[in-house]
Amino acid sequence: MGKGFYLSKALVVTCVVVASAAVATIIALSVVYAQEKSKNEGTTTAGPITTASPPPPPTTPPTTPSTPMEPWQRYRLPDSLTPSSYNVTLWPRLAPNADGLFVFHGHSRVVFRCTNDTDLILIHSNKLNLTKFDGHHAKLTGLNGAAAPPLKRTWLEVPTQYLVVQLKSPLKAGSTYELFTEFVGELADDLGGFYRSEYMEDGVKKIVATTQMQPTDARKAFPCFDEPAMKAVFHMTLLHPHGTVALSNGMDYEPVNVTLDGMDVVQTSFAPTEIMSTYLLAFVVCDFTFIGSKPGEDVLIRIWARKKAIAEGQGDYALEKTGPILSFFEKYYNSSYPLAKSDQIALPDFSAGAMENWGLITYRETALLYNPDVSSNGDQEWVATVISHELAHMWFGNLVTMRWWNDLWLNEGFATYVSYLGADKAEPTWNMKDLIVLNEIIGVMGVDALASSHPLSSKEEDVLKPEDISQLFDSITYSKGAAVLRMLSEFITEDVFSKGLHTYLEEFKYQNTVYTDLWKHLQMAVDKAGVPLPYSVEEIMNRWILQMGFPVVTIDSKTGKISQKHFLLDPDSVVDRPSPFGYEWFVPVTWIKTGGDEQQYWLQHKEATNTNMMLGPDDWLVANIKMKGFYRVNYDLENWERLLSKLSSKHQDIPETNRAQIIDDAFNLARAKMVDTTLALRTTKFLDKEREYMPWETTSRNLNYFILMFDRSEVYGPMQAYIKKQVTPLFNHFKDLTANWTKIPDNHTTSKYNQVNAISMACSTGVPGCKELTTGWFREWMANPEANNISPNLKSTVYCSAIAAGGVEEWDFAWSMFKKATIASEAEKLMYALSCTKQPWLLNRYLEYCLDPEKIRKQDATFTITYIAANSVGQSLAWDFIRSNWDHIFNDYGGGSFSFGRLIDGVTKRFSSEFEYKQLLQFKEDNAGHFGSASASLEQALERTKANINWVEMNKKQVLDWFTTEASSSPV
Ligand SMILES: *[C@@H]1O[C@H](CO)[C@@H](O)[C@H](O)[C@H]1NC(C)=O
Ligand SMILES: *[C@@H]1O[C@H](CO)[C@@H](O)[C@H](O)[C@H]1NC(C)=O
Ligand SMILES: *[C@@H]1O[C@H](CO)[C@@H](O)[C@H](O)[C@H]1NC(C)=O
Ligand SMILES: [Zn+2]
Repeated sequence: MGKGFYLSKALVVTCVVVASAAVATIIALSVVYAQEKSKNEGTTTAGPITTASPPPPPTTPPTTPSTPMEPWQRYRLPDSLTPSSYNVTLWPRLAPNADGLFVFHGHSRVVFRCTNDTDLILIHSNKLNLTKFDGHHAKLTGLNGAAAPPLKRTWLEVPTQYLVVQLKSPLKAGSTYELFTEFVGELADDLGGFYRSEYMEDGVKKIVATTQMQPTDARKAFPCFDEPAMKAVFHMTLLHPHGTVALSNGMDYEPVNVTLDGMDVVQTSFAPTEIMSTYLLAFVVCDFTFIGSKPGEDVLIRIWARKKAIAEGQGDYALEKTGPILSFFEKYYNSSYPLAKSDQIALPDFSAGAMENWGLITYRETALLYNPDVSSNGDQEWVATVISHELAHMWFGNLVTMRWWNDLWLNEGFATYVSYLGADKAEPTWNMKDLIVLNEIIGVMGVDALASSHPLSSKEEDVLKPEDISQLFDSITYSKGAAVLRMLSEFITEDVFSKGLHTYLEEFKYQNTVYTDLWKHLQMAVDKAGVPLPYSVEEIMNRWILQMGFPVVTIDSKTGKISQKHFLLDPDSVVDRPSPFGYEWFVPVTWIKTGGDEQQYWLQHKEATNTNMMLGPDDWLVANIKMKGFYRVNYDLENWERLLSKLSSKHQDIPETNRAQIIDDAFNLARAKMVDTTLALRTTKFLDKEREYMPWETTSRNLNYFILMFDRSEVYGPMQAYIKKQVTPLFNHFKDLTANWTKIPDNHTTSKYNQVNAISMACSTGVPGCKELTTGWFREWMANPEANNISPNLKSTVYCSAIAAGGVEEWDFAWSMFKKATIASEAEKLMYALSCTKQPWLLNRYLEYCLDPEKIRKQDATFTITYIAANSVGQSLAWDFIRSNWDHIFNDYGGGSFSFGRLIDGVTKRFSSEFEYKQLLQFKEDNAGHFGSASASLEQALERTKANINWVEMNKKQVLDWFTTEASSSPV
C-alpha cells in the first residue's frame, strides 16, 4: 500500500517545487497528520457498537500481560485451523439509524480445515457486535460428515481482537467445519476497515461505503482469520440502495432486486476471488461512474470516480496509462495478469496514497485523477508512479504474498523500485529511472545515516501487535527497500533479476513466502546466466538488510586504496545497536575514469587496493554511477579538485545523476566533518552553466540548511548574492526557452521542474525581472478572479513570491481565494503561500487565524504555524506565539497527535544560538509535563540546537568568507 508517508513522498515530489524540501516535508506531513487525526477520532466514535457487546464473562482467566499464557492472549493465530473459503454478505446503510449512527449489517460463513485436534477456535473480530445464538456468538457446523462439537463458551477478547470459541470436545484433524456469524458494525468515518466517506455533489451530501483492510482491519468488517498467510477464496455479496453500484475484488454479476426488512434494495454478488489474503479485500458502494477499456480487450479496465470528475475527463489519464503499465509488468514478470478485470477507484476520503486490493485498487483522488488544466506536472507524475506501484503488487504481494508483516520491506521496497520502471514505460521522456534517486534514495539516506535508524528486516516474533505492524510502514521500508533492490537488480542486471522473479512467482503463486525464497530464485537465475559475483545473492544482501545504515566508500586515486566505513551524519553520535556484520558491507563499486566506460569492483573488506583506480596526471574518477549503489563516496583531495575542474570546464562529461550525487555527497560529507564545508560549496560553482534539474534540485535541498542557519545573520547577504549570481543564467535560459514566459516548456519533465526552481530561486534572491513577472501574473488574476491563467506548475511559487513582494491587498485576495477553493490541492497551495508575506502584522494576524477553526481547520493549524516559522520574518513571531499560547494549543490540539511534535520541530529548526538554546530550556521548564507526544521532539530540538550551535561556530567564518569572495568575483 501507499501508507501515509508513502503519500508524503509523492507530495515531496509535487511540493519540493513549491520552495524548498523543508516546506515540502511540512506539506506532506500535514496530510499524514490529517489522517492520523481522523483515525484517532474514528476510534472514539466507533465506541457505541463495541460497548454494546456483552463484556467477556467474569470467568475469563486472569491476564498476565508480560507472559501471555493462553492462546487468545497471543497476537498470532495458532496453526491448528486453515480457512479455505468464506461466504460474506454485507449491507452498509448509507443513512444514519435512529441513534444517528451509520452502521452495516452482515453475516459470514467461513469453511476451515482442522490440521491438529483442538477444542478452541480463534478468529479475528474487532468492533463488531455479534448476534448470539443459544447464548453463543457463533454457530458451528461439521461438513462432509464431520460432527460439530457443541460450543462451551464464546467471548470477545478485546486486546488481541479475537472471537474466542471454546468447544466441549475437540475438532478432528483432517475434518472440515463451517462457522457462521451474524453481526453489526459501525460504518464510521475512521478510514479503516469498512468505513464511510462523504462528499458534496450539486449541494447534496453523498455517502460512500468503502474499505481499507491493510494491515489488520478486515477483522473490523467481518470475523476472519486475519493474517496474510491465511489465504482463502471469498464469495462476496453486497446489499445496497437503488441507484448505487457495488464493487469488489471479483467481477460483479447482474444485480437483482430484493426486499429485506421491508426495504427494496439491490443485491450484487461477485465472482469468487482467487485464493488470497484478507488484507487485499475491498468492497465499495457508491453512486460513482466509470470510464473503461473497449470491449474485446483481454483485461477489463475501469476507472471509477465521482460522476463530475469522470465527466470532466479526470480519469482519462489513468485509463490511458493503465493498459500499457499492465502490459509492461506482464512482460517484466513474464506472467499474465492474474485476474479478469482491473478496477481502480478514486475516493474522496482515503488514508493512504493508494491500496493494492486485488482487482479493486483504491486511491486517494489526487493519486488517480488528473486534470491538465489545474494539476501540476508533479501531480501527473504522482498519478503515473502510484498506478505503477499498485499494479506491480498485483503479482508481487498479491499473487505471491509475504508470510508475515516482518517482510513488508520486500513487498513495498520492491513495488516502489519497479514503479519507476513501469512509469518509465508509460512516460519514456520523463527520465523516471533517474528520478528515483531524488524521490527515494537521497531522502532516505538522510534518515539511515542517523544512529537511531534501524535495519530493513525484522524478526517475525518482533512484529506482533497491530501497532508494531503499522510502524513498519516507514521510509526505510519503502525507499531503502527500493534502493537496495535497485542495487541488486543493477549488479545482476535487470534481465537476470526479472528471470528470477518469473520462477519465484511460478513456484509460489497463491502461496506465501519469506524473503530468502526470492534470494533462492534470483540465485538460480544468476547461476544460469553466469553472472560473476564474489558471494551468493543472500550473503551480499544480508549485509544490506540485516544491519542498518550504509557505508561511505573512500577512494584514494593516488594509491588505488579503497575503504569503507559506516556513514553517520553526526560523527559524534553513538551507535548502540550491534550489527552481525560489524557495519561492513559487500559494496558493488562502479566507476568511470576520465570519461571511459563504466567499470565495477567489489569491495569485500574494510580496505582493499584496486590499482585500476590509480589516476594519471590528467585523469579524474567518479564512482557510484547513477547512484546505483546505496552508499556515499569520498575521494582524495586531488581527485576532488579534478572533479571540480571537470565540472567547471565541461560538466556534461559527468552524467547528470552523478553531478547531483557529487553535490549531495559533498554536502553530507561536510556535515559529517569528512570534508571541508568550502569544498561542498565549491561543488555548486558550475551551476551557472548547468540547466538540468537534478543538480539544481540537490543544491537547493542542501543549501536550505545554510539558509536556515544563516538567514538572520550577516552571512545572508553574501549568500543570497551568490545564489542570485548562479541562478541568473538559468532564469534567462527559461525566459528564452519559453519565449519570454509565454510558453510552457513541453518536452521534458525535468525542464518543467527546473523552471520552477529557476523562478523560485530567482525571485527569492532578487534576480531582475522575476518579481515583476510573478507579481504581474498575480495581478492579472486579481483583476479577474474568475480566470486564473497561472500555469499549474508555477502556481505555488508564483503565489508565494507575489505575496512576499506584495502587501495587504495581495494577502487578502489570496485569503479570499483560499476560502473559496473547492480543489484541495489549490487550497493547500494558497494556505502555504499566505505564509510567505514579509509583513509582520500580516503574519501575526495569520497566526491568530490558526486558533480560530472557522478560519483555519484544526487539522491544518499546526502546519500553518510551521509554514510561518519557515519564513525568516515569521520565525520569531511563531516562536513567541507558541510560547504564549502553549496551554491553549496543548489542550486543543495535543493529546497524542503526531503532528504536535512536528510543530516543535518546525518552529525550532533554525535555532542555532546559545540564546535560543536557553529559551528552549526555559520553555521546557515552564511547561514541564505539558508536552505529551512532543516530549521526544523537544529533546531532539535541544540536541539539534546544540549541534547547530557547533556547526555554525565551526563554519560561519569560512562560509561568510567564501560567499563574500564568490559573490563579488566576476563570472568566469
Ligand atoms: C429493480 O428495481 C428498479 C427500481 O425499482 C427498477 O428500475 C428495475 O427495473 C428493477 N429490476 C428488475 C430486474 O426488476
Ligand atoms: C517580455 O514580457 C515583458 C512583460 O510582459 C515585457 O515587458 C517585455 O517587453 C517582453 N520582452 C520581450 C523581449 O518580448
Ligand atoms: C527539450 O527541448 C530543448 C529545447 O527546446 C532541447 O534542447 C532538448 O533536447 C529537448 N529534450 C528532449 C528530451 O526532447
Ligand atoms: Zn505498496
